[in-house]
Amino acid sequence: MTDQLEQLLQSAQTAVSAATDSRVLEQLRVDLLGKKGSITEQMKQLGTLQGYERKAFGERINKVKSAVSDLIEARAKTLADADLQAKLAAERIDVTLPGRGDGSGGLHPITRTINRMRHLFGELGFETVEGPEIEDDFHNFTALNIPELHPARAMQDTFYVMDAARVLRTHTSPVQIRTMQQRQPPIRIICPGRVYRCDSDRTHSPMFHQVEGLYVAEKVTFADMKYDLQMFHSRFFEREVEVRLRPSFFPFTEPSAEMDIKDEKGRWLEVGGCGMVHPKVFEAVGIDPERYTGYAFGMGVERLAMLRYGVDDLRLFFNNDLRFLEQFK
Ligand code: FA5
Ligand code: MG
Repeated sequence: MTDQLEQLLQSAQTAVSAATDSRVLEQLRVDLLGKKGSITEQMKQLGTLQGYERKAFGERINKVKSAVSDLIEARAKTLADADLQAKLAAERIDVTLPGRGDGSGGLHPITRTINRMRHLFGELGFETVEGPEIEDDFHNFTALNIPELHPARAMQDTFYVMDAARVLRTHTSPVQIRTMQQRQPPIRIICPGRVYRCDSDRTHSPMFHQVEGLYVAEKVTFADMKYDLQMFHSRFFEREVEVRLRPSFFPFTEPSAEMDIKDEKGRWLEVGGCGMVHPKVFEAVGIDPERYTGYAFGMGVERLAMLRYGVDDLRLFFNNDLRFLEQFK
């Protein structure tokens, strides 16, 4: 009987140390110590023994039982440690691997163009002012429409109405109106920003950007305007740029002109509008038209960006195709 127990212990030792995963080990525990396990079976024999024999066998079998369960427990711990080590090794972060690359971003070409315009106008003494994109009737239309000049032109642009009192800004002149209501001359500002019109084709998008400029002081003349615009465009395109002013109409300037520039192939291209601020506009904002004069202009940022970067469809700027945008980094 003792021999049988001895054998059982030995084979249990061999089997437990050979178990390489916890499921195999658990099966061993069931086979040895479970309800129908071989050690449990041995214990059942106790009932057939008497007196000293019974006591001796009982002690012996209990020792074997606890030895086997210690073995299993120790092995279980070893396997769990090994599992953990394996997991740690598999999940280890190799800090020497090259990074995924953070693909450094870049500014949008329109943002770049606006920044460039801000910088260059800044050098010419213009301060940048910004205002709301949702405007009221007074700032977007009334203060800028001098009816006796040309009533039919008052509504020349189709525009997005928010509700009875508010519209999406159709130009950045409203920012200039707001500024003139708050300050007295001299005023020398540019107003970059998004504007909205019901337009869409190769050179018109429903949302686009303008930089409008305003210079109000004593004795500001049309010649000052032409000189400043010429300076700006020459700096912007980094070459001597010719500016042509073509007679035109705007309901808030008199005289008014379309501003064309000559490209490198000698073609004239319209980039914006300009003119001398109408005295009635000054009256509407509380500036003395007897004392002050001023010029104003408005340029399309996308148009300037198209010319500078040689892009022939303005809508490309807003499709958000990275292959296009990445070229400007
Ligand atoms: C104006 O918006 C006048 N407020 C400009 C002005 C300001 C004149 C101050 C006098 C004094 P116009 O509608 O032409 O003018 O627009 C000016 C420029 O914005 C255009 O020359 C063009 O370059 C650009 N532009 C106009 N509509 C769009 C559009 N839908 N998409 C892209 N650019 C546009
Ligand atoms: Mg125009």
